[in-house]
Amino acid sequence: MGLSSLLIPIFSLLLLTDHKLVFTESTQPPYSCDTSNPSTRSYSFCNPNLSIAQRAEDLVSRLTLDEKLSQLVNTAPSIPRLGIPSFQWWSEALHGVANAGPGIRFNGTIKSATAIGTEARGVYNAGQAGGMTFWAPNINIFRDPRWGRGQETPGEDPFVTAKYGVAYVRGLQGDSLHGGRLGKRLKASACCKHFTAYDLDHWKGIDRFVTVQDLADTYQPPFESCVVKGRASGIMCAYNRVNGVPNCADFNLLTGIARKKWNFHGYNTSDCEAVSIIHEEQGYAKTPEDAIADVLKAGMDVECGSYITKHGKSAVLQKKVPIHQIDRALRNLFSIRIRLGLFDGNPSELLFGKIGANQVCSKKHLQLALDAARNGIVLLKNTEALLPLPKTNPNISLAVIGPNANASSLVVLGNYYGSPCKLVTLLKGFQHYANNTIYHPGCDDGIQCASAEINQAVEVAKKVDYVVLVMGLDQTQERESHDRDQLDLPGKQQELINNIAKASKKPVILVLLSGGPVDITFAKHHNKIGAILWAGYPGELGGLALAQIIFGDHNPGGRLPITWYPKDFV
Ligand SMILES: *[C@@H]1O[C@H](CO)[C@@H](O)[C@H](O)[C@H]1NC(C)=O
Ligand SMILES: *[C@@H]1O[C@H](CO)[C@@H](O)[C@H](O)[C@H]1NC(C)=O
Ligand SMILES: *[C@@H]1O[C@H](CO)[C@@H](O)[C@H](O)[C@H]1NC(C)=O
Ligand SMILES: *[C@@H]1O[C@H](CO)[C@@H](O)[C@H](O)[C@H]1NC(C)=O
Ligand SMILES: *[C@@H]1O[C@H](CO)[C@@H](O)[C@H](O)[C@H]1NC(C)=O
Ligand SMILES: *[C@@H]1O[C@H](CO)[C@@H](O)[C@H](O)[C@H]1NC(C)=O
Repeated sequence: MGLSSLLIPIFSLLLLTDHKLVFTESTQPPYSCDTSNPSTRSYSFCNPNLSIAQRAEDLVSRLTLDEKLSQLVNTAPSIPRLGIPSFQWWSEALHGVANAGPGIRFNGTIKSATAIGTEARGVYNAGQAGGMTFWAPNINIFRDPRWGRGQETPGEDPFVTAKYGVAYVRGLQGDSLHGGRLGKRLKASACCKHFTAYDLDHWKGIDRFVTVQDLADTYQPPFESCVVKGRASGIMCAYNRVNGVPNCADFNLLTGIARKKWNFHGYNTSDCEAVSIIHEEQGYAKTPEDAIADVLKAGMDVECGSYITKHGKSAVLQKKVPIHQIDRALRNLFSIRIRLGLFDGNPSELLFGKIGANQVCSKKHLQLALDAARNGIVLLKNTEALLPLPKTNPNISLAVIGPNANASSLVVLGNYYGSPCKLVTLLKGFQHYANNTIYHPGCDDGIQCASAEINQAVEVAKKVDYVVLVMGLDQTQERESHDRDQLDLPGKQQELINNIAKASKKPVILVLLSGGPVDITFAKHHNKIGAILWAGYPGELGGLALAQIIFGDHNPGGRLPITWYPKDFV
């Protein structure tokens, strides 16, 4: 069956039936430079005929010291005297517009989201975003397979990661709109993170020792591409130290390399609390004021946190921070806000101001989510053409077994996600193809599988024609601040797989959901494990994508983005 002829009925069946978005009158976000306000109309920073740099310069020159300091943290308050509304620098969007940071709220007309650039604007225009600076993509190199945040990245290869970074940034910032020549305007602002050599975030301390060559060959190329080719408007310096120097306080890295060599013109933010950590945990700076002086001097522009709110004034009074460094940071920050069109009067009359709530969770974007899931799934083994399963036989009986077989949205969405527009569970996907589908979780306690119902699961498996085992990991095993120490499947998962494979009529199909790799050497040569698929964390339509692949409506062409090492590698 042709793809599109299959998709449309499934979409109408699975996507559109209980997908009720009610578009009511939205709250317009506040804006500066209201042209009907005679007191602000005269400000040079409101004049779109001047350059961005001139406008930012003018704006900064009007601020008092307290106003200046107030703007150097992610929650920047309003400056009513100049008609400047508040701005939230911290929003997340790694897996769709996300409410993981304080910037995005799904409490209005828009309750969910999927794609990023256009939807980010849509959410902002509906008055549900405090800002439009998104702290994604994560383009760190996934070198150590145990890294809990490896799931956020496109893998271990600097070349692939660089390509991904450029595509992500251009798409989100709206550059692709005009053949890459959008100029200075931003649809939304992307931020390449975490600069640099940041992998394994909770692994025996936070220092990294990296040779100059490894930096040049491996860790820096994605950042260089992100800035030079993607023209990213943001960079985030990482928590870790590189060769003893905290990234956010590394002048050579931030200013020497990024600004001067790569000609970076955006803003740079600290990772959250990274400034306080420099004093409080790493002891690199002797006092809070020194930490602030260090980061501003190195070239950081905005702090995620409130250390500058607390200690910024005393840092200035102690003459540790010169005003010209504060002004530089502010010029970078306001330049971004100006480029986002927030100082051009009523945004609803401007370029991106007309992107409405109806462009959020649109059919086109759901199709994109489905395509991404389908193209990301990797076929690792398929002996004797076990796959695809025969979808033409309506009587086929299927058992879908395992702790991830009916994985919740918390599992399939990975991390840094928003509310999905429409979630198709893996189980629902299978049931769509085979009415006679039996589900059994296999483990009593979810993915850790300390206790398994092996005998009952084996009985289920014996009864059916085909068995799909859905195993792997979830955020309890790998996440931010939680790296793994080994690569085995958790608990009794392997024992469960082996017992079911032994008892089933035909070889089984093993599906793994995980961000990082697991050691499945045991399954590789097992003659009763006929097929193995890796599905990552496939997102809201992953259930549909996986079923389409297993039943042959889509050919899996994905490739592993990271080497799957045997466990003794660690
Ligand atoms: C900007 O330039 C246009 C065209 O020259 C002019 O009509 C407009 O008044 C100028 N706007 C301001 C604020 O100076
Ligand atoms: C949504 O949440 C924000 C922040 O908590 C709040 O200011 C706003 O009033 C809420 N909007 C609605 C419609 O509840
Ligand atoms: C951060 O901004 C300052 C201001 O120009 C700059 O000196 C520094 O190099 C920037 N950092 C990065 C990573 O670009
Ligand atoms: C499906 O089952 C019905 C009833 O048992 C049987 O008549 C039919 O032939 C079966 N179809 C196939 C394709 O096996
Ligand atoms: C499942 O059952 C429904 C109605 O009972 C039927 O319309 C549909 O074709 C069946 N699907 C398959 C794959 O057998
Ligand atoms: C599968 O999970 C969904 C929620 O994610 C739940 O509503 C449903 O009952 C579960 N199905 C089974 C068979 O347990």
